[in-house]
Amino acid sequence: MSLTCPLCRGELLPGDKSYRCAQGHAFDVAKEGYLSLLHGRQKGAGRGDSKSMMLARDRVHRAGVFDPLVAALAALRFETPPRTAVELGCGEGFFLGHMMRSHGITTSYGLDLSVDAVKLAAKTLKQSLILRADLLTGLPFADGSLDLVQSIFAPRPLAEIKRVLRAGGYALFVYPEADHWQELRAFLPLAEIGADKLPMSDLGGFAPVTSLPVCEPRTLSHALLVDLVEMSPSIHRLTRDGNNWQAQLPASLVATLSVRVALFRKE
Ligand SMILES: C[S@@+](CC[C@H](N)C(=O)[O-])C[C@H]1O[C@@H](n2cnc3c(N)ncnc32)[C@H](O)[C@@H]1O
Repeated sequence: MSLTCPLCRGELLPGDKSYRCAQGHAFDVAKEGYLSLLHGRQKGAGRGDSKSMMLARDRVHRAGVFDPLVAALAALRFETPPRTAVELGCGEGFFLGHMMRSHGITTSYGLDLSVDAVKLAAKTLKQSLILRADLLTGLPFADGSLDLVQSIFAPRPLAEIKRVLRAGGYALFVYPEADHWQELRAFLPLAEIGADKLPMSDLGGFAPVTSLPVCEPRTLSHALLVDLVEMSPSIHRLTRDGNNWQAQLPASLVATLSVRVALFRKE
């Protein structure tokens, strides 16, 4: 077992409806099936992605909009196939589920801060342990205990990722390219895509394995365009501005999915 107590770093062991460490710190399994590792002032809802963002993303995934990315992830070749994995910022668990099925992962964790994300992930990924935790305050895993850490459109705490991976373990990142859904920008002032790229060299302690662009035109209905905006950080500003942004979107649009899959191996 690789799970550790976020308070003392001791091993966390499952009990009846909770997990405990030897020092007596206890963390409850919620009735929805996820384990909350939040403690003290970290507790409380309203952080991470909102329920409406989560549901919009779920509809987009179910409609197959990200299928080219799913196919690219399924086609990845690992010299040593990973058996234990975590997805940081797993959302509702869509990509974690696909990675488990495609690559024979047997022990998996999905971690997210959003209460709505972990509720949905625990419902759909029964074979994974879903954790509610803040990935920016340390990862709840023992040193060198995981074969794969993935972060897909989510933050990447590199030092912690390196700590929890075993030597030779894999770090898998997916992030948007600058032209991701660029055709949509003609209709709405969406947030710029930040300097999110990763250098394939010079990622201290990791050797680059693959850097793969996934660039495909997708035909999107008005409803899917609305969902794509709803699931993005731009939604906060558009909502604040209070205008009817949905009406500015066309009835349908061919827009380019443009993301990068970057795989590294811990040296
Ligand atoms: C853009 S979504 C990606 C979700 C999923 N990986 C996917 O691609 O479908 C980013 C996710 O990271 C989560 N997140 C953001 N900051 C976080 C943090 N500090 N700790 C844990 N999760 C976080 C959000 O709640 C959200 O579910």
